[in-house]
Amino acid sequence: MSAMAETQNEKLPVEKIIVELESLPKPTDLSGVFSRPAPVELEVGIGKGGFLLEQAKARGEVNFFGIEWANEFFRFSADRYARWGLTNIRVMRTDARAFFEAWLSPACLDAVHVYFPDPWPKKRHHKRRFFRAETIEAVVRALKPGGRLFVATDHAEYWAVIQPLLSSRADLEEIEFPTNFAKPGEVVGTNFERKYIKEGRTFYKIALRKR
Ligand SMILES: C[S@@+](CC[C@H](N)C(=O)[O-])C[C@H]1O[C@@H](n2cnc3c(N)ncnc32)[C@H](O)[C@@H]1O
Repeated sequence: MSAMAETQNEKLPVEKIIVELESLPKPTDLSGVFSRPAPVELEVGIGKGGFLLEQAKARGEVNFFGIEWANEFFRFSADRYARWGLTNIRVMRTDARAFFEAWLSPACLDAVHVYFPDPWPKKRHHKRRFFRAETIEAVVRALKPGGRLFVATDHAEYWAVIQPLLSSRADLEEIEFPTNFAKPGEVVGTNFERKYIKEGRTFYKIALRKR
């Protein structure tokens, strides 16, 4: 049965959607947590979960894995996915940075999505940011050759850090940012993006492919 054949009326037990970090081997190839082999795309910081929900509904042939640190958002998203009865989605509550750096197998992901990452604007908090050289190294390692990385932010100062860190890498090539992720007028259609559109903010985005 395809992921979409199970309709939103067939609620899944939320336990089938949630993955516990402690249950995973080290290193982890995430394809093992899904019920069927398929390409795997991972989103860091899913927030209220809208992006992965729409992707999982639209692209039943892909397995989607969401990571969220904040318990409230994590539970909200897991319940939302369970209500839709989608079988091609899993979520885990953990620190995505540590997961990339210490847990993920090399070359196991087809795509990584990071939308509106927390900018931690105060200098003394910069060390908490997702985008730093070590984490980017780990993200690139986890991508398969040809795997893609998608990033969007509204934060000009953080963007000024992210963009050179990504663009300067010889193992990544910039590609067109897809126009079909969201509705016309949106980049990815996340909850934060919709809030920021109303505030008239500028968005920065980049898509890259691992050579
Ligand atoms: C600004 S919100 C954006 C949420 C969503 N991507 C959106 O655009 O609506 C950033 C999210 O990333 C989560 N987050 C931040 N750092 C994280 C980390 N290291 N690991 C997992 N989640 C993280 C936060 O809890 C928050 O939900």
